[in-house]
Amino acid sequence: MTESYIIAFDQGTTSTRAILFNSKGEAVATSQKELKQYYPQSGWVEHDPQDLYNDQFEAFEKVVAEANIPLESIKAVGITNQRETTLVWDRNTGEPVYNAIVWLDKRTESICEMLREQDLARYILKNTGLVIDSYFSATKIKWILDNVEGVRERAEAGELLFGTVDSWLIYKFTGKHLTDHTNASRTMLFNIKNLDWDDELLEALEIPRNMLPEVQASSSDFGRLEYKGYSLPIYGVAGDQQAALFGQGGYKAGMAKSTYGTGCFMLLNIGKKPSFSKNGLITTLCCTLENEPNKYALEGSVFVGGASVQWLRDAVGLINDPMETEAICKSIPALKDLYFVPTFNGMGAPYWDSEAKGSIQGLSFNTGRKELIKATIEAMAYQVSDLLNSMIEDSGKQLKELKVDGGASVNNYLMQFQADILDTRVDRPVMLEVTALGAAFLAGIKAGIWTKKDIASVRNVDTIFEPQMEVRLRNYKKEGWNLAVARTRSGYA
Ligand code: G3P
Repeated sequence: MTESYIIAFDQGTTSTRAILFNSKGEAVATSQKELKQYYPQSGWVEHDPQDLYNDQFEAFEKVVAEANIPLESIKAVGITNQRETTLVWDRNTGEPVYNAIVWLDKRTESICEMLREQDLARYILKNTGLVIDSYFSATKIKWILDNVEGVRERAEAGELLFGTVDSWLIYKFTGKHLTDHTNASRTMLFNIKNLDWDDELLEALEIPRNMLPEVQASSSDFGRLEYKGYSLPIYGVAGDQQAALFGQGGYKAGMAKSTYGTGCFMLLNIGKKPSFSKNGLITTLCCTLENEPNKYALEGSVFVGGASVQWLRDAVGLINDPMETEAICKSIPALKDLYFVPTFNGMGAPYWDSEAKGSIQGLSFNTGRKELIKATIEAMAYQVSDLLNSMIEDSGKQLKELKVDGGASVNNYLMQFQADILDTRVDRPVMLEVTALGAAFLAGIKAGIWTKKDIASVRNVDTIFEPQMEVRLRNYKKEGWNLAVARTRSGYA
């Protein structure tokens, strides 16, 4: 019998990938391309929409060529993507009216302020699960409508479409205008209780409803990608963080994962009933399966995680390769009172301080290159620990174990330090491409290749990191971090 394959497209903030999985859930071929970033002004971040599609198509062609398998053995395609990033394009020509405004972009703070002044914070939290922040798509759509010449009129005449990156790729591959529940739940326009676009918010932001994609289950039929005479069904679509939770087997309430990518994102599956955080977290939809009740997750989003290590390499030149950092961290003694708070683009959860800039505190004559590198790595663990504290306060439960993935989770020093600072076991799987695996599973479930229970059998543990740090030292370090964060906040005087 010939093998069946599922292909996952993983369009992330800094790179675009295609990964081919066999029916055992093993990655058999991968293709990756770095994505060009545009920074037109301070705080602005954009991507070229054509790059998003062309890079994805190129990665797809390369992975198929490398694997050298018959096209008919690819049973389905799953798409996972950087979330919130906002595109608007012409319904008929497919021509984008502006670059994609990336989730990290801070240009819409004044629109957020307007929403706060209209007293919409509570309404937005209770209906979309989100806090008012420029991170989410809604204010970015409004910015495009208000600032790109002629666009509002065209939108009102029904000529334009909005989409997050998944929608854009689906449109380019199939001509359909669709999205899934996870991506819709990041727009700040989607009611996560009745699973529909929210008219009150559309009105407040003057966004025409006819621009919005149709929303369907993450594991469902999103159309066909036609390639060399074959028709490949797109059967899975999900935002990357929810896809990672699914790929880690987190479809049950109580399971939590943290992904160390451009940012750090921790999600805790809270089950079928949405609850809303009192401690700066957001509520979001988990991946949805057809004919199954939807589930919710509490999420903590940290904007700068692995991006700070890239900054060390690209802007400061302290390292040549992020892979050097583990050995450097291990080669010097524990840091004494040195903290790097890398909030280059404002603070996300649990602080939501869009005006904050980064800071380094506790510099002394003993601080050198290696110490700064170590402080950068440790900052990821401290930021994730802030998220976990909020989750514990919200849920009233201590988390026993955190599953991890993403590029920086290969760093053993970081993972041990994470377990130490959290006082929680950290479980790293062998296969770290769980985001792509999650998307592949969504597609494979619809294609009838897998059931959701198969995910657990595919997941093999690589290392369990047990907390080892003495309580007193942990508390001392966390207090130092809290002070550094307080001094970095925009209101600090
Ligand atoms: O919410 C933003 C997130 O989806 C970005 O993920 O993996 O591109 O850093 P990543």
